[in-house]
Amino acid sequence: MWRVLGTLSKESYDRQYSDRELLRRLIPYIGAQKKFFVLSILFSACRAIASLVTPLFFAIVFEELVRLGTSAGAITGPTTIWLFSGFYVLFLVLEWVFSYFNSVNKQKLQSNTMYALRHDLFKRVNQHELQFFDRNKTGLLMARISGDAFQVGSVMNTVVDFVEIVMFSVVILGAMFAINWQLTALAALVFPLLFAFIFVLRKYLRRYSLLQRRAEAAVNSATEEYIRGVQVTKSFGQEQRVQRHYEALQSRKASVNARRFFVFRSFPEIIDFFTAIALFIFLVGGGIDVLRGGITPGILYLFITYIRRLFQPLVQLGTFYATLQGGFAAAERMFSLMDVEVSVKAGGQTCPPLKGRIEFRNVFFAYSKKKGDVIRNLSLDVPPGELLAIVGETGAGKTTLASLLARFYEYQEGEILVDGIPINRLDPDSLRDQLGYVLQDPFLFTGTIRENLLLGAPGATRDDIDQAVKAVRANTFIKTLPGGLDATVLEQGRNLSQGQKQLLALARVLLKDPAILILDEATASVDAYTEKMIQDALERVFEDRTTIVIAHRLSTVLNADRIIVMDNGRIVEEGTHVELIRREGRYRELYKTYYAHQGMLEPMA
Ligand SMILES: Nc1ncnc2c1ncn2[C@@H]1O[C@H](COP(=O)(O)OP(=O)(O)O)[C@@H](O)[C@H]1O
Ligand SMILES: [Mg+2]
Repeated sequence: MWRVLGTLSKESYDRQYSDRELLRRLIPYIGAQKKFFVLSILFSACRAIASLVTPLFFAIVFEELVRLGTSAGAITGPTTIWLFSGFYVLFLVLEWVFSYFNSVNKQKLQSNTMYALRHDLFKRVNQHELQFFDRNKTGLLMARISGDAFQVGSVMNTVVDFVEIVMFSVVILGAMFAINWQLTALAALVFPLLFAFIFVLRKYLRRYSLLQRRAEAAVNSATEEYIRGVQVTKSFGQEQRVQRHYEALQSRKASVNARRFFVFRSFPEIIDFFTAIALFIFLVGGGIDVLRGGITPGILYLFITYIRRLFQPLVQLGTFYATLQGGFAAAERMFSLMDVEVSVKAGGQTCPPLKGRIEFRNVFFAYSKKKGDVIRNLSLDVPPGELLAIVGETGAGKTTLASLLARFYEYQEGEILVDGIPINRLDPDSLRDQLGYVLQDPFLFTGTIRENLLLGAPGATRDDIDQAVKAVRANTFIKTLPGGLDATVLEQGRNLSQGQKQLLALARVLLKDPAILILDEATASVDAYTEKMIQDALERVFEDRTTIVIAHRLSTVLNADRIIVMDNGRIVEEGTHVELIRREGRYRELYKTYYAHQGMLEPMA
């Protein structure tokens, strides 16, 4: 039953990876963040040592008090108490400080890993032909790129926590052994029992985690399906049946959740139970030793503290496992997506830094043989730095032309060259690294503004970001958001206006600094005021690079060095605005239909 439900959430490209395979794929991402990894381990080591020393000072003070109590009038007493109480507090503070820096570095590690994963996923998804996007739902692709990358990122935190716990345990055990190995051995009696228990529980944790994930996936995909199909449901009067099915899935999920919680929630108590046993053994053994004049009460106190600290982090082990499993599942989904075969072949020559010349030579292209040519014998030469506008009726082939340049589709005949090199000889990745695309509906990730800006250029510095944001005048609105650059972007940027999203998309492309920029009706759906702002911003973006604007707006067209008019896959006219208006051809017609009302003040030549 679960198996069946589990498959509901699967995409056609999903596959299974062994844990080892997943690790092998993840290690480079951890490796790239060595610095933060090492730093957070270092800080947690310092914290472990500090937290080892703190109770020691307390024990000394305690010991001193016991001694003073028995031999009244000791002179050294008060000074020692002052001094070691001071140390005690000092190390307590140090512990907090180290813990703080440890967290900061862990956070860095987590978010950088997430950026890197998103960057790679983003790049990979971008390599696909557009047909890939017709086949795969945007929502699901987006969930993988944002959600799963986030989840895998948080696993990094868990890995550090794990190392921290191991290190902490080793340090404490080592110190205990050094101080009194007999007593330590006594307290350690409980460990084999504890580990046996964890081992048994692990099986259940694993099982329930898996069941829970499947039940959840089933509910999610049913929810999505039913909401998408709500119109159909209603028109067929199927609401009740859908509701019943949905509720059945929900209650199954709830019952798995309850069972899982039952196991998970018992973990801390069970650890406490073992701690209690260890403490009991130790108190009896140690207590008798104190009476016999073996160890001092101070040591007894110290050991009790150590034992408690030793067991405490074990509680986290239960959640570790869940996080790790969740992370692996997310990694599996992510890599499945990353490994979908791209039909445009990778490889070939690496694209050299481009000056930005673009040539189309007698290019023919059809999406399918049946539908016929969409681009027909098209030739075009764009010198570096030119601002070229493409206009034409809907369906004329403007977007297709731009897609061919980015190798989203392979053309059938002719040749497309950049800086004199045929693009089908170039590695698509390296070509696209030098292309910037801004589309009508910009794509933003859940996360922060900064994360979104960094997508095209993960290595960009703060200054780079500030500059890019200023250049496109996005700084004014970013300033008004709570948190500025760290303001949250909701899914698909739905807490931002279309214009704001567009400004961010432009800043992002500017950060990427491509040699060739393509704007496909990038300003079509923003209001006039925002458009004016974007227009000003765009002038900066256009500087020093070849730009193709597929234009909906007159103002963009007017500024172009050259305008080409497309119709039915061909270029039917080209020239400047003034030239084309004079010619009284297609452009003039288009202008009258689409543009005239947008620019009342603009004379028709
Ligand atoms: N992914 C696709 N699959 C099949 N046909 C497509 C696809 N995209 C566009 N077309 C067709 O190609 C032609 C040109 O479309 P397009 O380049 O989007 O035009 P424009 O951007 O000028 O509006 C249209 O007839 C359209 O139906
Ligand atoms: Mg189009």
